[in-house]
Formats: sequence, structure tokens, C-alpha cells
Amino acid sequence: MSKMTLGMIKPDAVGAGKAGAIIAHIEQQGFRVAALKMLRLSRAMAREFYAEHDGKPFYEPLVDFITSGPVVAMALEHPDAVKTFRQVIGATDPALAGEGTVRKLFAQSKSRNAVHGSDSEASAGRELKFFFSRTEILMGENRVNESE
Ligand code: RTP
Ligand code: MG
Repeated sequence: MSKMTLGMIKPDAVGAGKAGAIIAHIEQQGFRVAALKMLRLSRAMAREFYAEHDGKPFYEPLVDFITSGPVVAMALEHPDAVKTFRQVIGATDPALAGEGTVRKLFAQSKSRNAVHGSDSEASAGRELKFFFSRTEILMGENRVNESE
């Protein structure tokens, strides 16, 4: 059980102006945003990020899609971050996603599905390092005191 996972708002949702609503929804589900950045992935970065899917029929379309516009990457803190965030985003296909999940609320289709979440503790470790340096993830000691 790890306290941090990697979330990513995909180009369909960023392009449709839904990033703010999605971040608000995630915060309402009890996650703290510990790092946040918007960037456009290069094709090389996209291939590396989704390397596990290399060779599958949807791999090239996925690389095309994920590089089609900016994404918002987030380090998300929660007592059981990886498992809980996967529940909060819902099934890959929004048609199969539960009521109130991010994909049910914000996704268009199985391929344009608004958000990514790390699928295991190992993936979370790898994906957090992919987007963020250690000093960019704000842990307790370098956050502003909440009483200030
Ligand atoms: P993600 O990695 O983006 O969080 O999504 P996931 O675990 O729910 O699904 P995964 O199997 O890892 O697939 C990665 C992404 O590839 C696209 N996809 N399209 N058209 C298709 O059959 C298909 N299957 C997967 C989706 O964007 C999916 O999120
Ligand atoms: Mg996945």
C-alpha cells in the first residue's frame, strides 16, 4: 500500500476544458495534489510511457492520441493511493465505468478516456519518476504550514 500514485489528464479532456473539473473531483475524493505539471509528450516519451502495450493493435493510435495535445500529470497522495485512484477513475471503457467515476463523468470512449492512473505499486514508482523529480513532489516538510 503506497501513499502516492501518478494520475494524468489526457489530451481529450484537457482540450475540452475539463482539467479543472477533473482535478476538483479528484480532490473531493480525498486525494492531495503533491505535484502538478502540464506538458505535451513527445512521441518518444509516449512510447516509453506506454511501452507495456508495444505490439498491441491500439499502441500506435494510443501514441498518436496521447501526443495530440497537452496532458496534465499529477502526483496524488492518499493512504491507499494506487488502488483507490483506479477505483475513482473507473473502467477503461466509460460505457463500463461505474456511476460517479471520472471516466463515466468525463470520458468519450475507450480510447479517448480522459484520464490515466498507475495500475500497480511498481507502475506508480516508475511513472512518478517519469514525470517528476524528487524535489518536485511536495511532501509534508516543504509545504506551507496550513495555519499560515
Ligand atoms: P491507462 O493505462 O491509460 O490508465 O488505462 P487502463 O490501464 O485503464 O487501460 P490499458 O489497458 O492500460 O490501456 C491504455 C490505454 O490505451 C487505450 N486503449 N484503447 N481501443 C482499445 O481497445 C483500447 N484499449 C486501450 C486507452 O486510452 C487506455 O486507457
Ligand atoms: Mg494502464
